[in-house]
Amino acid sequence: MSEIFLPQELIRKKRDGVSLSDTEIGYMVQGITDGSLTDAQLGAFAMAIFKCGMTMDERVNLTRHMMNSGETLSWDKFNLDGPVVDKHSTGGVGDKISLMLAPIVASCGGYVPMISGRGLGHTGGTLDKLESIPGYDGAPNNSVFQSLVKTVGCAIIGQTSNLAPADQRFYATRDVTATVESIDLITASILSKKLASGLDALVMDIKTGNGAFAANYKMAQELAQSIANVSSNSGVPTSCLITDMDQVLGRSVGNAIEVIECIDFLKEPHNADQRLLELTLELSAYMLQLSGLEPDLDSARSKSKMALESGKAASIFEKMISELGGPTDIIENPEKHLKPMPLICPIESKSSGYISGVDAREIGVSMIYLKAGRTKSSDPIDHGVGLSEIVGKGQWVSKGEPLALAHCRNQDQLDFLQSKIPSFIQMDEIKPKLTSVVKEVFSSNKDLN
Ligand code: URA
Repeated sequence: MSEIFLPQELIRKKRDGVSLSDTEIGYMVQGITDGSLTDAQLGAFAMAIFKCGMTMDERVNLTRHMMNSGETLSWDKFNLDGPVVDKHSTGGVGDKISLMLAPIVASCGGYVPMISGRGLGHTGGTLDKLESIPGYDGAPNNSVFQSLVKTVGCAIIGQTSNLAPADQRFYATRDVTATVESIDLITASILSKKLASGLDALVMDIKTGNGAFAANYKMAQELAQSIANVSSNSGVPTSCLITDMDQVLGRSVGNAIEVIECIDFLKEPHNADQRLLELTLELSAYMLQLSGLEPDLDSARSKSKMALESGKAASIFEKMISELGGPTDIIENPEKHLKPMPLICPIESKSSGYISGVDAREIGVSMIYLKAGRTKSSDPIDHGVGLSEIVGKGQWVSKGEPLALAHCRNQDQLDFLQSKIPSFIQMDEIKPKLTSVVKEVFSSNKDLN
C-alpha cells in the first residue's frame, strides 16, 4: 500500500526540524504544482524551511522535484558536437555579461541555451535589454529554441511557463511571506530552472556588494557553496564565482544603452571597461574548462580572448539576433536600430577627487523610477532611458567634468538624474585601493552538509 501523506503533518515535521524524505518532498512539490496545496500551507511550508533549514539531501531532492515539475530539455536527438553549458547571475546593476559571454563560449565550441529573467527590483534583466532590439523574439517555442542553439551555438530567451512551474508558484508565495532570503530555497529555485535545460556544466556569478541581492559577503559564500554542492550532487559540475557589485558593472545602465555597450565591447574589446572585460573572460574560461572544452583555466582564458578579438563572437551575436527576429546588421549599424534619446547631457561633478564609492543599488533604483526597470512583472518598461559613461572607482574627476551621460526623453527626467546621481557617487582626495572583480570561487568539491 502506498504511503498516505497530509500536508499539515509534513509542515509540522519540517517546523519541528525533522528532515523530510525524498517521497515526502515529492508529495509537497506535486501539491505546489497541481494546486492541491493551499497558499496558506505553501507559506507555512516556506517559513518552516526558512526557520529550520534543509540538509544537503533535502536540497538536492527539492531541486530535482521542482525541476521535474514541468518540461525538461533533452539534447540527445540534436547530436551536438560539444557540451551544453550555461551561466547564471544572481543579478546586478549594469550586468550585461550574458550578451557577450554566450557568443564567446559558442565561438569556442560550447552550446549555450540561456534562459533569462526580466528585471525585477533594482537589477536589470537580460531579456529586457535584448528586447530593445526591434523584432527580437525572446519567446520562441522549445523546438525553435533548441534548433537555434544547435545552428548558432547560443540563444538567449525568456523563461517559459512550462519550465519548473512549481518554482513559479513557490517563488510568488515566498515573495509575499518574507521567505525569499533562505539559502535552501534560493538554491532549489535557481537550480530547478537552470538544470531543466539539460546542462552538462554550469557557472554561477554570485554578486556581492551594495548593488547585489546578496549584499552581505557571508550570504554570498553560503549561497555559492550550496549551489555548487547541490548542482554537483544533481550530476552537473558547477563553479560559483563570487564577484564584486559595489559599483555599476561596465559603464552603462538602462536597456538599449547597455546593448550598445555590448556591441562596442564585441567590436572593440581593447576599449572595453576593464572590470567588464575581466569578468566576461573569466566566466567564459570557467565555462570552457568545466565543460571539458579546454584542459585548464589558462588555455580557456586564451581561447576566450581569441574568440573575442577575432570578431567571431561578434558575428555569432549578430546571427543570434537576426535568427530571433532582429535586424541582420546590428553589429555594423547599431544606431539604425537603437535610436538615441532626444536629450543626451552630462551630469557634472560638483567637486574634484578620486571616485571612492558608487552606490549601484541607488542608481538601479533611479532607473526603475524612470521606468527603465519595473516594480511588478506586468509593468511596461522604457528601453531608451539610462546612463552611459558612468565613472568607476579609482578614476580622477575634476569639478565640472561628467560623472555620467544621461539619456532622457524629457527635461523632467534629466532634472531628476542631475539632482540624484551626484549623491550616489562618493569622492576622496586619496585614490582608493582597487580590488579584483572576482573575489572567490567555489567548486563542487568543497563539502557542506
Ligand atoms: N532568484 C531566483 O530565481 N530564485 C530565488 O529564490 C532568488 C533569486
